[in-house]
Amino acid sequence: MDIKRRQLLTGISVAGAGVLLNACRNTQTRSGGATNNESKEPAPGEVEPIEVTAPEDLMREHGILRRVLLVYQETATRLRQDASSVPSDALEKAAKLFQVFGEDYHEKKLEEVFIFPAVKKAPGAATRYVDVLLAQHARGREITDYLLSVSQADRIASNSVEPLTKALESFVRMYEYHAAIEDTVVFPAWKAAVGGNELDALGEKFEEIEHEQFGDDGFEAALKRMEEIEESLGLSNLDMFTAPAPPK
Ligand SMILES: [Fe+2]
Ligand SMILES: [Fe+2]
Repeated sequence: MDIKRRQLLTGISVAGAGVLLNACRNTQTRSGGATNNESKEPAPGEVEPIEVTAPEDLMREHGILRRVLLVYQETATRLRQDASSVPSDALEKAAKLFQVFGEDYHEKKLEEVFIFPAVKKAPGAATRYVDVLLAQHARGREITDYLLSVSQADRIASNSVEPLTKALESFVRMYEYHAAIEDTVVFPAWKAAVGGNELDALGEKFEEIEHEQFGDDGFEAALKRMEEIEESLGLSNLDMFTAPAPPK
């Protein structure tokens, strides 16, 4: 990934990302990933390194993508209420994050190369999902391209409000179920198909790919970017999503 593209993901300079990510890396390592931290005792006050397995890593990537879906859902709601209040740059940043982190990395470099081929070959109920999941990746990329084209201007054009709202809602509907099927059926089937030793080796391989793509820890950079987008939209207070009490 070239520097310009990576800056689009992180929203900060590569040097700045390096400082940020190095601070975070001391607390994060995958199982089987031979990092320098593994052989060291944590310094006083330092947090014990957490093991992140390959399936867990894929699922926490889904966590970032689900947070983009929340931005899409909130954007759709605001478009219906008052389209002129919707800042197009936050939507553009969210769609760009989904493209760089979700499509170009999570889908194209991990799921389509390692997960789906192994699941397709293995006997079991998960096999039947693979073709649909691939078709949904392709449809998602079409929708992301559309979101990026519509959100380029400072404001959403009035004739784009209705089709954009529908595109956002249908994307959220599709990808919520897509990620849930992967989490509950496809990733467990993949884990069973590859076995423990290979899973550790693949965890290390995934880490190498992440470094090739992002230069450092892509997850931490994506998480920071996501938090900035949520904050810009006033969505960073988890408590605001607590449901009201039901009727008595
Ligand atoms: Fe997927
Ligand atoms: Fe996925």
